[in-house]
Amino acid sequence: VRTAAVIPAAGRGVRLGPGAPKALRALNGTPMLIHAVRAMAASRAVSLVVVVAPPDGAPEVRSLLDAHALPERTEFVVVPGGETRQESVKLGLDALPDGYDIVLVHDAARPLVPVDTVDSVVEAVREGAVAVVPALPLADTVKEVEPAEGAPEPVVATPVRARLRAVQTPQGFDRKALVHAHETVTEDVTDDASMIEQLGGTVVVVPGHEEAFKVTRPLDLVLAEAVLARRRA
Ligand code: CTP
Ligand code: MG
Repeated sequence: VRTAAVIPAAGRGVRLGPGAPKALRALNGTPMLIHAVRAMAASRAVSLVVVVAPPDGAPEVRSLLDAHALPERTEFVVVPGGETRQESVKLGLDALPDGYDIVLVHDAARPLVPVDTVDSVVEAVREGAVAVVPALPLADTVKEVEPAEGAPEPVVATPVRARLRAVQTPQGFDRKALVHAHETVTEDVTDDASMIEQLGGTVVVVPGHEEAFKVTRPLDLVLAEAVLARRRA
């Protein structure tokens, strides 16, 4: 069974602050997107990577891919993205050729996910799961609040922390199920697996990895560069 990875990379990165689109910012001199592409191509299972570029940035992303050393056994396709992550993933799925029955969806903003995590997601889909997410237990206690602006927010509930997981990517799917979910679910979601859940499908969790954290705020850039420096040491 052939596996493809779709990498949504079309976001601006508002929370990271002003500058180039987040996926094109450098981590130790190499664009975050290239790290993310290498992380997917590092898996022997992945033979195609679809990069969903910033809407007007597809030519730039194509030349970045050509300029960096990437595994020759992997094929690369670049398509322009949309307004939301959900739209961008759908545009990536639309570009998938026939013959790929397993699809990974991986945030460009998680450039340092280890190959073992990628492989364990693929493995769980190969063994029959429709949707697989890597996730970690939480360090912080989580409270649900009644959101209020400029005032202390009342706490509504405290879910039992031991039952909570922080979800990462790559998330792995049976291709048909994911395509159907993207064609059916119209509500806004923050990950792909929740679309499968909304349609009554079963999603399973495999262990995630600390290094699969999402680069979201400026401090995350510091952490990512420290992880890269540690790998080189
Ligand atoms: N993404 C995308 N298309 C969008 C929005 C987001 O492909 N219209 C991608 C981002 O490029 C990123 C992933 O979805 O790789 C996760 O999104 P997030 O971390 O929220 O990135 P941004 O949306 O770029 O950041 P922010 O929300 O701070 O603007
Ligand atoms: Mg976003």
